[in-house]
Formats: sequence, C-alpha cells, structure tokens
Amino acid sequence: MSRIAYVNGRYVPISQPSVEVEDRGLQFADSVYEVILVSGGKPVDEEPHLDRLERSMGEIHLAPAMSRRALKLILRRVLRRNRINDGMLYLQVTRGAAPRNPAFPSDTRPSLIVTARRLAPMNPKDLAEGVAVTALPDLRWKRCDIKSVALLPNILAKQQALDAGFFDAWLVGEDGLVTEGSASNAWIVTADGDLVTRPASPAILRGVTRMTAIRLAGELKIPFVERPFSLAEAKAAREAFLTSASATVLPVVCIDEAVIGDGRAGPLTMALIKRYRAYLSKDAAAGKAGAA
Ligand code: PDD
Repeated sequence: MSRIAYVNGRYVPISQPSVEVEDRGLQFADSVYEVILVSGGKPVDEEPHLDRLERSMGEIHLAPAMSRRALKLILRRVLRRNRINDGMLYLQVTRGAAPRNPAFPSDTRPSLIVTARRLAPMNPKDLAEGVAVTALPDLRWKRCDIKSVALLPNILAKQQALDAGFFDAWLVGEDGLVTEGSASNAWIVTADGDLVTRPASPAILRGVTRMTAIRLAGELKIPFVERPFSLAEAKAAREAFLTSASATVLPVVCIDEAVIGDGRAGPLTMALIKRYRAYLSKDAAAGKAGAA
C-alpha cells in the first residue's frame, strides 16, 4: 500500500510531486512542524502539540490557515488512509510558494503537509537496556523554542553521534550546561533522588512529552526540580533519560565514557516509563491525552 500524504487540500501518494519548487519551506526552511505520537489510533497529547504549532507559527508571523477542528479532521483522515494505529504524525506548515526573495510574500497562502507512518511501540526489554549518548557543542540558533524545520545543526549532531556508535547527542552550551538532545529533552536524577530537567526557555524546545512527564512524575510523588545542569553533573548522575514524542521516555545509561548508575535503566526512570505506558494505554486511548 503506498503511503498517502495530505498536501494543501489533497490526499496524494507520498512519492507524487506535490509541493512547488519555490516553496519557502524548501528554499529558506521558512517553516515550522510538529511530530505527534499515535497510540491506539489516537494522536497523543494532540492539544498541546497543536498549541505549540500555533505558537511556533505565531513566532514566525504565520496565521492559522484553518480551524483546529478542520486540522484535527485532516490528521484523522491521514491516519485512516494509511491504516495507522501505532505510529507518528508529521505536520509541516510553510509560508507557501513565491518567487525566491527573503521578504515575506504579500499574497501567498501557507502550505500544509501532513504525513503519517507506522512505528512499533518500544519493547520494554529494549527500554530497560537504555541508550548511550555523546556530548557535543550546541551549535544552534537562539530560538530553539520555535519548532523550526531548520534542523541542520541537529541532524549533523545526530549523525556525528551515530557515526561514533552512540544513539544520540546531548548538546552542551558554551557555559557547560546541557541544553537538550538533538531531538529530545534531557533529564537526570541526582544522588539525592531529585528529578531534574532544564526550565523552558528559548534555549530548548518546550517538549510536549516533557510536560506530560513532569505531570506524571508529580502523580508518582517524585521530587522534581526545574533547573539547568552541567555535563559534569549529568555524568555523575544516578539516572538519566530523554523524552520525545517518538522515543517517549528512554533511559540514558552512558554519556560518553561515563556509565550512569549501574549501566541499566534506574528505578525512577522505569517507574516513569511504566506510568507513561499506562497513560498511553488508558488516557490516550480514551482520547484524554493532553488533558492537564
Ligand atoms: N523532536 N527537543 C528537540 C530539539 C526536539 O526536536 C524534540 C522533538 C524535543 C521533544 O519534544 P516532544 O516531546 O514534544 O516531542 C525536544 C521530534 C520528535 C522530532 O523532531 O522528531
């Protein structure tokens, strides 16, 4: 079955050329996006993802092209047409197509692209094994809170990490503080048992999974502190993990040469993973995902 994408009002095979050559998303990365986890046929945390999309659009001076209701309908149609129960939705909004000129075009409609793909839910055994990350300098711009498709520094860091045998990179600012992963938020558990993640600011993406994890940690009565942490502190942490829509809650068991804890997912991380999975199977399936 060929995959179907939604492109500017039409449902088309994914391989069919359907975006104009002079689309500003292609030529300037003048475009923002969202990635939404799909569990049990439902977009997980749909409202906060669409809130963040609207915010990213607002920050680059793009007005919503349609109502949220219409957009949600499109997401469901893309899922149905691709027969996806567990997977990912990808939404991209560009400033549209116009003769190449950095100035905003005056009469151009934004482009909307939606795709979906299947993704097997993570195996709990693999989850417990955890992943290794390498620390790399954060070379990105100063507005990482905007979910822009201009991801060159992120993908270069990811590839550098993969080439060196790591799962991902944790990005470190000039101040020695960890900002986030190349496509995820970074967390540690200190020797005192505090769960720590960096506060939302223009230096990081305000992860939707991050917000859900903060809420679930609260339900589990895990002591939580929102503050920056250094690479040295992360390497000495008792536990570490990352969060993103696609990876959900993923244990980090090595940071470069430093083994975190005993080199396996720690108890607090596993408790959070368990709680997150319960959230996916109950709340998300009932359409309650994203309810605060
Ligand atoms: N990445 N930080 C960055 C730089 C990200 O790209 C992402 C998401 C996150 C986590 O955000 P969320 O929990 O809302 O997924 C943090 C997505 C999954 C991606 O680009 O594929």
